[in-house]
This record gives sequence, C-alpha cells and structure tokens, in this order.
Amino acid sequence: MAINIEDLRRLARRRLPRALFDFVDGGGGDEWSVRENRAAFERITFRPRVLVDVSKRDMTTTVLGQKLASPVVCAPTGMPGLLWPRGEVEAAKAAARVGSIYTLATRATCSIEEVAEAANGRVWFQVYVWQDRELTRKLVERAEAAGAKAMFLTVDVQVVSQRERDLRNGFTVPPKVTLKNATDTLRKVDWLWRMLRGPKITDRNFLGLSTRAGGSDLVRLGGYVNSLYDPSVDWDDFRWFRSLWKGPLVIKGITTAEDARLAVDHGADGVVVSNHGGRQLDYMPASIDALPEVVDAIGGRAEVLLDSGVRRGTDVVKALALGARACMVGRPYLWGLASGGQPGVERAITILNSEIDRTLALVGRPTLADLDPSAVRHAQRVASPAAIPAV
Ligand code: FNR
Repeated sequence: MAINIEDLRRLARRRLPRALFDFVDGGGGDEWSVRENRAAFERITFRPRVLVDVSKRDMTTTVLGQKLASPVVCAPTGMPGLLWPRGEVEAAKAAARVGSIYTLATRATCSIEEVAEAANGRVWFQVYVWQDRELTRKLVERAEAAGAKAMFLTVDVQVVSQRERDLRNGFTVPPKVTLKNATDTLRKVDWLWRMLRGPKITDRNFLGLSTRAGGSDLVRLGGYVNSLYDPSVDWDDFRWFRSLWKGPLVIKGITTAEDARLAVDHGADGVVVSNHGGRQLDYMPASIDALPEVVDAIGGRAEVLLDSGVRRGTDVVKALALGARACMVGRPYLWGLASGGQPGVERAITILNSEIDRTLALVGRPTLADLDPSAVRHAQRVASPAAIPAV
C-alpha cells in the first residue's frame, strides 16, 4: 500500500520500463538541482505555536479564480499517456474528483478538447511560444474554445536540456532500440499489455495543425515539434502572447526578482517559481530558496505558485508560509498514474492533502490564511528580524 509519495515512486519503478521511469525521475546534467529541490525543503524547519484551537481546520483556497479543496495542483508534464493509456484524461478526471485541477501540457497524447470534456472544463493549459507563431495562436484559441480556465506559458525551455539518463536509455525521438531496453520493456508485461490495447501514442495537440510535420506518428510529428522550440522568445513576444489570451495568464519558470517584476509589468496574473523539477538548467537553486525573493518582488500584484521537489504536505505548508499561494506537483502524480491510473493520481493528491491537514494542526495554524513566514525557520528569513514577530 502507498502511504506516502515515495511509496508511489517505488511502485512506479516496479511497473514501468526502466527508460520510462528514468524519463520521469531524471533531470538535467548532474541532476544537482533535482537533489537540491529536496535538500532545500529539508533545511527548513517549523516554528509551531501550541495551545491554539486547531479543531476546525480549512485548507480550501482559490487559485487563479478556481476554487480548490487544497493548495495542491497538477503541474503540466509532457506525455503522461506513455505511462498509462490516455494518461492525461485519467489524471484530469482524478484531479477534478478530489477538488484539485490538472494542467495539460501542450505535448500530450490526449487533446485539449478531450481533457477539458473529461474534467468538465476544470483544466488549465500550458504552452510554449513556438517558432511557428500561427500554430501558437491556434493552440491558444483551441484552449479557449475548450474552456481552459488559465494559461501557463513556460519560459525555461529556451533549448531542450540534456537529460543523460534518457540518452543512455535511448529514450529519444526517434527511440534507440537496444537489446537491453527491448528486453526490459518486454518484462513489464502489465504495462505493455495495457499500452498495446490503448490508443496510438502521438503528440495529439499537433495533429493536423501543420502540413510540415511529415506524418502523424510520434517519431515524425514529435521530431517536428522538437524543432519548434524557439530560443529567440523575449518580452516583446510575451506582450504579443498576452494579447492572445484574455483569461488568467501565468509565467512558469521565474526564479529572480528582476524577472518577477518584468512579469507583473507585462501583465502576467501569476508566476510559477520553478526550476522545472531540475530538468532544465542544472545548478539552479531550489525553487523554495528562490521563492522569498520572488514573493517580495511581486508584492501581492500577482499570484505566486511554486513547484519542484514537493513530496510532502510539510513541503506545501513551508511554501505557503513563505508566500506561495499553491504548489504544483509533477512527478508525484505521474508516479501515482504509473502505479494505478486515475485512482493512483487521486491517491497522490489525497496523500498530500492529509499530510497538509495534519501539519496545519501541529504547527498551530488551522487555516491557510494563518500561514506566514513566522511558521518556519528558513535561513534567508531568519536573518531578517522583521520576519519573526516579537511576542
Ligand atoms: C515536466 N515539466 C514540464 N513543464 C512544462 O511546462 N511543460 C512540459 O511539457 C513539461 N514536461 C514534463 C515532463 C515530465 C516527465 C516531468 C517530470 C516534468 C515540469 C513540470 O511542470 C514541473 O515543473 C516539475 O515536474 C515540478 O517538479 P516535481 O514536482 O516533478 O519535482
């Protein structure tokens, strides 16, 4: 039985072919930032208050206008449908069922229309500004027509990073088939059987969008999409993008005060403090360490979300104490998905929710509104006497 997120990770490791497990688990370069995301949370401790009535606790919240049962939402991740047939639809249904929300990545095996319908419109959408601006515009228009409630523009994939586990495993487009990975894949019988009966895997949001793709299969279409990342995207492009989308717009991948200010000045409604789960630039600081600087710079003018390394309800409470409005999780729900489809994703979110509830009680802050920096001891905050009120 999965008692915590690490249990779900172990189950996923057992059930997935090695290359797929590593695709989810791995990071860029030395994977220092992946480890640092955890280490930084582990350096933060609590300053609990006692003899506080915590009998009535409330972790409901509103994020980007969306009512949520807790401050945990699903981050956009590419191709969950490789882990479980129609993985995006399963995850979106799970999130909706437990009062959370799913963010669909553009790179998905299910279309925005399918996912929005399955989740009753309870979905956010993530895009990049692709080299083909017309195609970018079409994706935004489709998301709006499908009823997506917020748009996330990811800005930390100027180029795709080198994830060495993927290279070693031949997890590339096109994939490299070796005796080792073929044998390993054949041994994961349940996964293989399930996937063989599932729909064809492809970059479904791009089907029919461009005549330049040269085919509808994952190798050709996926290869074409890989060529669309645009390292020239700048704040002028963001201004253009802002004009396309009228709803809440969030920039994902902000980690400095300078960029946080620019984001607000250019009309962003929110930012995600994120190092992409350590999957892009290695040796970025942990998101939780970058959070206070971004929160200060934003000064309440936009909503601040955080992701990267959130594995425990205590992590969520720490992030909220330091000024985040909500946390996104990536790998935790993917491990849930790999271990059991929709119920696995529900399990991932409910594990975190019950840990948050228990933590709120034990730190003596019964509601999310009671959380402020005084709830934690954080190296950067403890240095500032103003953060710890004299009582
Ligand atoms: C991601 N992430 C991501 N982000 C994004 O904006 N677009 C994408 O297509 C993807 N794809 C993707 C695939 C996989 C397998 C993972 C694990 C992650 C990053 C994601 O949104 C988020 O920033 C991190 O996953 C957060 O870190 P944790 O929770 O995984 O530690």
